[in-house]
Amino acid sequence: MSSSPRRILVTSALPYANGQIHIGHLVEYVQTDIWVRYQRMRGHEVHYVGADDTHGTPIMLRAEKEGLTPKELIANVWKEHKRDFDDFLISFDNYYTTDSPENEKLAQSIYLKLRDAGLIEKRAIEQAYDPVKEMFLPDRFIKGECPKCGAKDQYGDNCEKCGATYSPTDLKNPFSVVSGATPIKKVSDHYFFKLSDPRCETFLREWTQVRTPLQPEARNKMKEWVGEPGESKLGDWDISRDAPYFGFEIPDAPGKYFYVWLDAPIGYYASFLNYCTNKGLDFEEWVKPDTTTEQYHFIGKDILYFHTLFWPATLQFAGYRTPTNVFAHGFLTVDGEKMSKSRGTLISAHSVIESGFNPEWFRYYFATKLNDSMEDLDLNLQDFVARVNSDLLGKYINIASRSAGFLVKRFGGVVSDEVMNNPLLEEIRHSSEKIAALYEGREYAKALRSIMELADKVNGFVDENKPWEIAKDPVREADLQKVCSVTLEAFRMLSLYLKPVIPQVADGVEEFLSLPSLSWNDVNTPLSSKNPIKAYKHLMTRVEAPQIETLLAANL
Ligand code: 2FM
Ligand code: ZN
Repeated sequence: MSSSPRRILVTSALPYANGQIHIGHLVEYVQTDIWVRYQRMRGHEVHYVGADDTHGTPIMLRAEKEGLTPKELIANVWKEHKRDFDDFLISFDNYYTTDSPENEKLAQSIYLKLRDAGLIEKRAIEQAYDPVKEMFLPDRFIKGECPKCGAKDQYGDNCEKCGATYSPTDLKNPFSVVSGATPIKKVSDHYFFKLSDPRCETFLREWTQVRTPLQPEARNKMKEWVGEPGESKLGDWDISRDAPYFGFEIPDAPGKYFYVWLDAPIGYYASFLNYCTNKGLDFEEWVKPDTTTEQYHFIGKDILYFHTLFWPATLQFAGYRTPTNVFAHGFLTVDGEKMSKSRGTLISAHSVIESGFNPEWFRYYFATKLNDSMEDLDLNLQDFVARVNSDLLGKYINIASRSAGFLVKRFGGVVSDEVMNNPLLEEIRHSSEKIAALYEGREYAKALRSIMELADKVNGFVDENKPWEIAKDPVREADLQKVCSVTLEAFRMLSLYLKPVIPQVADGVEEFLSLPSLSWNDVNTPLSSKNPIKAYKHLMTRVEAPQIETLLAANL
């Protein structure tokens, strides 16, 4: 590479430690992992960190229900999440937890810096309180009758029956989901991050509208939220919760805890700090305001607000660098509908593996649907089977199985060097920067379309040259070797281009073609007669349609 390697810190959103990883989550981890693997192939210094998001009321209550301490619960869930990420080849450099000593220290020191900058304010507020359980109730822990249609057992924000929206105080006969008691109003002191301070407003306007190349949809949303100068649209952010709460205590406020959303993004840094300590990297170098390193957060569009307002403001006013960019994706639907437990489409990552699916089928399929926008994407199960079988097996894997046998049996695995500048190979080689730019810009659907178009051309070449017929003609030995060499070199380059998406298949290809781990520049280093290939071993099997039924049944 001509320019010096970039230094890049990458994160995916931290999943809550009270539930399983499902395919909706996987879209994001796969999206991030493809980008990370691509950057590594380019020779950049990339660190990809994650963690479980462990604090808050739901986790505390779920632990209690299961007869566990919150720490026991989150330790169990961490193991499951880690297993699922490993199964789907998500190549985290560090997978940690927000309930860590690093995170406690960082959250507390960041809070104290914000306080010293005059950006924390204490205010008494009135909230719903469960007098039996003796705890304040987050909105989703209050239910009651819809004020409009009277439907029973509705949440405090909207009615599932008639669709009305309202606030929890409008519910008739409200009750606490925790104890069943009627909530009362109670006043307590809360701590606020003063986002309405003119310093925050000015900073966020500049950061979201000028400095950061946010996605257009994100930038427009932020423009709405931040408002025009003098409009003061930003409200202060309530960052404290009262005991009992599973989280970190606020240093100068005993009995008050940081709201989970305060310490969650700091958890990105805590995971990275833990990694830096273990690897001997200089954490400060990466997080100081004038750093030359890059920092990217991949997230779902539902948590944009936290990542493009609260998080950059927190970093800025605590004396850290701010993110280079935030990349938001849309939601996953299954067969055009929201994932649903009753239809079996809330598909857990583990059930995919247990039902005998190859995780790379999913990586590939998601990649064919991903682009740089926040549009939703659909997993169409029939299309999934067709796509994987026709693209990956029919177009790509097929190339190797059609040509490797002849080379190994007839030529000892030795390729013909003189064909390595054949026009088809040159065309594939020259596509490298175009495909690279598509990966860089998170336009995976377009990248894969380009790669499959090249695969079509390679198959056309094989069909035209008919190696199986040449093989019958003893005087055309040399031709056979040439045709198979072109085909395999083409296959090598296509494998290189697909490697960020299907890294396990790429490992198998490297093994069978006797190659070291392929990096992007290796596109210019063709197969060589000095390095004979080994016998072809099957790289991937087809999806069978009945497997879909098994998968849906496993999630009912
Ligand atoms: O929405 C969620 O699932 C959160 N657990 C994401 C946290 S991302 C980060 F900020 F930690
Ligand atoms: Zn209603």
